[in-house]
This record gives sequence, structure tokens and C-alpha cells, in this order.
Amino acid sequence: MRTEAERTAKKTEKEIEKLLGKLTLDEKIAMIHGVGLFRSGGVERLGIPGLVTSDGPMGVRAEFLNDRWIPAGNNDDSVSYLPSNSALASTWNPYRAYEMGKVLGAEARGRGKDVILAPGINIKRSPLCGRNFEYMSEDPKLTATLAVPFIKGVQQNDVAACVKHFAANVQETDRLMVDEEIDDRTLYELYFPAFKAAVQEGNAYSVMGAYNKINGYHCCENKNLLDLVLRGEWGFDGAVISDWGGIHRTKEAAECSIDLEMSVFPDFDEYKLANPLKEAIRKGEISEETVDRKVRNLLRMMFRLKMLGRHKEERKAGAYNAPSHREMILKTAEESMILLKNEGHLLPLGAAKIKKLVVIGQNAAKIHSDGGGSAEIKALYEICPLMGLKRYLGGNVQVEYYKGYYVPEKPKMFDHNWQADSLDDLKDTTIGQLIRDEAHMQEMHRRQEEERLAQLEKEKAEIHEKNKALFAQAVEAAKDADAVIFVGGLNHDSDSEGIDRVDMKLPYEQDALIEELLKVRKDLIVALVGGSPVEMPWRDRAQAILWSYYAGMETGTAFARVLFGDVNPSGKLAETFPGRYEDCADAKNGQFGLWGSIKLEEGLYCGYRHFDRNRIKPAFCFGHGLSYTEFAYSGLTLKTEKNREVKVSFTVKNTGKRIGAETAQIYIAPIAPKVDRPDKELKAYTKVELAPGKSRKVTLTLKQQDFAYFDEALHDFTADAGDYEILVGASCEDIRLKGIAALA
Ligand code: BGC
Repeated sequence: MRTEAERTAKKTEKEIEKLLGKLTLDEKIAMIHGVGLFRSGGVERLGIPGLVTSDGPMGVRAEFLNDRWIPAGNNDDSVSYLPSNSALASTWNPYRAYEMGKVLGAEARGRGKDVILAPGINIKRSPLCGRNFEYMSEDPKLTATLAVPFIKGVQQNDVAACVKHFAANVQETDRLMVDEEIDDRTLYELYFPAFKAAVQEGNAYSVMGAYNKINGYHCCENKNLLDLVLRGEWGFDGAVISDWGGIHRTKEAAECSIDLEMSVFPDFDEYKLANPLKEAIRKGEISEETVDRKVRNLLRMMFRLKMLGRHKEERKAGAYNAPSHREMILKTAEESMILLKNEGHLLPLGAAKIKKLVVIGQNAAKIHSDGGGSAEIKALYEICPLMGLKRYLGGNVQVEYYKGYYVPEKPKMFDHNWQADSLDDLKDTTIGQLIRDEAHMQEMHRRQEEERLAQLEKEKAEIHEKNKALFAQAVEAAKDADAVIFVGGLNHDSDSEGIDRVDMKLPYEQDALIEELLKVRKDLIVALVGGSPVEMPWRDRAQAILWSYYAGMETGTAFARVLFGDVNPSGKLAETFPGRYEDCADAKNGQFGLWGSIKLEEGLYCGYRHFDRNRIKPAFCFGHGLSYTEFAYSGLTLKTEKNREVKVSFTVKNTGKRIGAETAQIYIAPIAPKVDRPDKELKAYTKVELAPGKSRKVTLTLKQQDFAYFDEALHDFTADAGDYEILVGASCEDIRLKGIAALA
């Protein structure tokens, strides 16, 4: 007996074939390439609309002109600014991921979009990667379990999530050309699982092929990746969309499973899957069937989105800037903040005791939503930390603000983002007279990178000079206040698409300023906002450290509510915060940020897997995050079922005085593995909220797959029989309970 879903799918396939039969080659070709920077072609005659896409992960991007990277300048495209994926991941809360997906989908649909180019789910390999803020975690399990509900939330609104960037888009340097040598086991265990979950469990309607090459082939022309793995092994039947400019060759792209070519150039007819493909088909070099396959996948997505077919009238309308979106964004922002350190219970601050508050640091007053590359958005508003604090405290408290350090003015992101830069050659030309030579483009990017590095060097002297007065003023002010909060960190001048960071240090001499402030204020509260880890050489001397990723339009509100204790922090690190960059796997093997090619020699050993194996203590480990209350763990029991599943039960108790939430993490450590395996790996987690004195017994199931590794010889996952240590903890270092499960 067929299920209702199977019957519908069968009917849809019939309708697809019918439509396909009516399409001319020209019409089909129009559908498989961009006819605008964010639009594909439609076929009016048959009522097939073009696809309208938009970035991105932190909200729906502002409108651009159809054929230029120039903002349309509309006043109706400001939107809700969502927490970045790195902030979302710090909640360790799949429910929040679902809610954020729902908000993004509703906003996208409300703006008339069909495909939202999100979420970004690449595994973070190096803390220096410029796009880390857009991604979730260094861990595949955590990423997968958050990506799935996020995608479901988006697609509930009849908008396709376009999960990106498939695969292993681990660096921005030379991102269009870099060739990454990666072994199969690393791909299957580290870089693939979140994508697999996204398509199989999240039912993502679309996937974006990455810019980089893997083992010699560009991801958007990579048969192994797209045909064998994505479609063949995982059964994906949705649409694969190229990253903008990710297709380089007509035949290769035509003959592999990429369905829609998007690019940064306005000569739409010259896209590889436009006239050049038509010409090759005419000459008999490529078969028309290659085009049919792509059109089928695109039509299937359109039926799913109710853009076509009997359910068209039922398609959701969405809504952007809904008040409920802001509430959900605030909740996520609150849950995303991570209390890294809180010696002597310095936090939370008591508002009643504060008559004068001194706030120091540029990130207190900085707006971040308008930067970062394609993740930039025009936010309806963004409450910065300073505004959050002032709104919280009201007019009777004296809040003094000092910049503390100098940040050189940068041109607006739009003027120098990669997308705009790739059009540099076109500035004085008209559409159609383009220089699209790849070697030339690469050279241009290399030049730009050199200029950027030289500029950074030049700025150092300027920063040093200007900081003298700013430091003195801030230090003086810090002496006389009831509390002093430093709000520094990074911004999108370095957390950005198209560039990688040059080091892991806080820019603008912030370390020196923090040291000076600590000399006059032992009770300095250090709050950092950023998209990726920074070194904190002063961390032993600071009593309280709060970390926030770019947390959306209500960042400042959440920030104040956490600092003053209205919200008990419950965020945990979804990535390791190394003590020094030199400690990282990619630094040790020197294979990050190179041009041309890199070898991911560390294999599975990046993030906490690397720190564990090499017994290096990071500054703050994966999974770490404090609360204003304490939790005790007890009573671990393990029950192995016949189907090789293990039921893990234990009790978490709130032993402190405040209501709070704890994320309990379960790691598996094989005791005598037959093959080399990471010391331990996260396989499950749960977040429990508990009133003071209350406890809850939780039971989580580890599936057979959770014990498995990828056996290259079998080309499949295997879970060897044997003993496995089951570690339950508050972080990857803070293991509270241990037991042994025997797998038959
Ligand atoms: C980025 C994608 C983005 C696309 C469209 C590319 O440069 O890598 O993440 O979705 O542009 O703006």
C-alpha cells in the first residue's frame, strides 16, 4: 500500500514529465541559469515562474539591481536581523534552531523569495576562517542536530532552504580555486554528516555547491560529490544550485548533478549553462537529456514550494518584521551568550547598587548587521550593547561611554566585498564586454589580498598613535565607577566572506587596554562580541568574561538581561577556544590559508578531537559555558538493546539558588578500537531547565550509527563490537559521569 505522500510524489512526477514534454530547449536552458543576479529564468507561456533567491543566514538581504551589485535603495527591504549561526549553535537548543528557521522562512516568503541561501553548515576547521561566524560548529553532530530543525522551520513557509556550501568550504583565501586534498574517511565522518542529515532528515529542498575544489574537482562540477554521494548514496532529489560563479566549465557542469548556475556576472546569456551549453547540444557534444535532468529537479522543487500545481493557492504568504519574530530572536540571543568565566560570582551585577556605570570599547556601540559579505543585511534595527544597558538601567543611572581604542574607518562592506570586487573589471564597460579570465581573476584577488595585508600593517602605527589618548581616558574613567564593563572583540572587518583572519589576536591593541584596565579594576567585566575565537592572554587575571557571537537585532537587550541576571546564561561553546593559534591543528600543519592547494593532513583531528589527542589544553574547551547556578550529575545507567542501541540515563540537579538551564553532553570513547579513532566524540546532548533544588532524570538513546566509523575499504560505516566508554559531562573536559557500554 502506498502512503499519501508516495501517491502525491508519483502524481508530481507525472506532472513534471508533462511539463517537461512541452518545454523547448531554449525554455529549459533559461530555467537552469541566472537571468538576474538572484533570479533564474521562467517560462511564462506555461506558467512556470523563475526562482527568486536571496541571502542569507542572518536575515533576508536587501534588494539589489537585477544586473549590478548595487543596492536598489528601497525603503521596504529592512528586515529582522537574526542571530548568526554561530550564536544559534551556542544555544545547543534544536528548538531555538527550529524557531529561527521559521522566522527566516517567514521573512523570506514575506519578501517574495522562493529560495533562501541558508543555513551555512560548514564544519569550522580553523579559527581564522573569515566565514566562521556564518557556520555552526566544529562538530558534525552538533551541526546536524541544529541544521535539521532549522531547515524544517524555513521550509514550513513554502520557501526552500539552500544548505551551503557543499562541501568542506574551509577557507576564504583563494576560495574560488583552492584544491583541498581530503581523504574519504574525513569527508564522511567530519565534513559530510551535517549535509547528509540536512537532506535526509531535514528534507532540504536545495543544496549549494561550494566554490572550492575537493581532490582536484570543483565542487559544482564534481561527479563524485554530487552524483555519487549526494544523489546516489543519500538519495537527494531536490535542486543543486551553484555558488555564485562556482561553475567553470560547460560540459563538466552539464554532465554532473548541478541544476542551476548562478553567478556574479551580468552577462547572463554567456553563463556556462546558457548559450555555451545550447551550442554544445546543437553540435551534439552534450545530450539534451543532461538539461532535462536539471529541469526535473528544479520543477520538483517548485512543486514542493507550491509554485506550481494544484496547491498553488495554498502557498504561504509569509511576513517580515513581525513583532513575534523579534521576541523569538531575543530569546535565542539570550540563550546564545556564553559565560566563559565568573570568579567570585562577579556576575550578575545588581542594578540597585549601580549609580554610575562605565562602559568601554567600540563593540559597545557598534552595529554589525550591515557587514560580513553576503550575510550582510539591512536590519530594521539593531540594539547595540550600550543601548541595551541604557534601556535596561533607565535615566537615573549615569552611564558613561568611552571608545577605549581606535578602529580605522573602512569603506562600507558593499564597496569592497568579493561580489562587488569581482566586477571591478566591468566598472567602465557595458554589459557584454567582460573580462572573465580565471587566471586574471585569481591574480586580481591575490593582489587585493596583498593590498589588504599591507593596509593592515600600515594601520597598526596609526592605531598605536591614536590609542594613547583613548587608553588614558578610559583607564582614568574606569577608576571611578560602581562597575566597569569592557565590550570589545571583533567586527566584520575581519569576520567576513572573502577573507581569512591573519591571526587569532584581538585587533586594535585591545589586549593591552584590557591589561591596563585590569590594573585599576580587578572587577572589570570583559565582554567580547565576535564571530570566531580570539586569544585572551589576560584571561587568568580577568574575573568575569562573557562571550557573544553576532546575536541579532536584540543583542543589546539580551546582553543587559544576562549581565544583570534577568536571564541566567546557558550558552555553551560550539567550538574550541584555543589558548593560542599555534595550538590549532591547521597551524601545526601549516595548511591553512594557502593559495592553490591545501592538504587536510590532520584528517579527523581538528577542533576538540585535535586538542584531546595532543593533550593540549585550550583556553576554553568545546561545550564549555557557565551558569549563575550549579548543576550536579548522578546515577548513570547504560542499557544496551538488542538492536545495538544504548539507552543512557542520568539525573541532573540544580544545586544552586537560581533557575537555570544545563546542556548535558554525551561523548563516546572507544576503549580498544580496531582502527585509529578520536579519543572521544560528541554523540548526543540535551538541555534541561531546572528550578533551584529540582532535578530531572533524562534518557538519551545512542544509535548503532553513533558508534560507527567510516571504513574506507568497505566504503561504509561500521560499528565494531567491543567496549565503549560513555562520558557524560558539562563540557568536553568537564566529564561528570562515566560508564562502559558493550556493543555485541
Ligand atoms: C557566497 C554565497 C552566497 C552567494 C550569493 C557567494 O559569494 O559564497 O554564500 O549565497 O554569494 O550572494
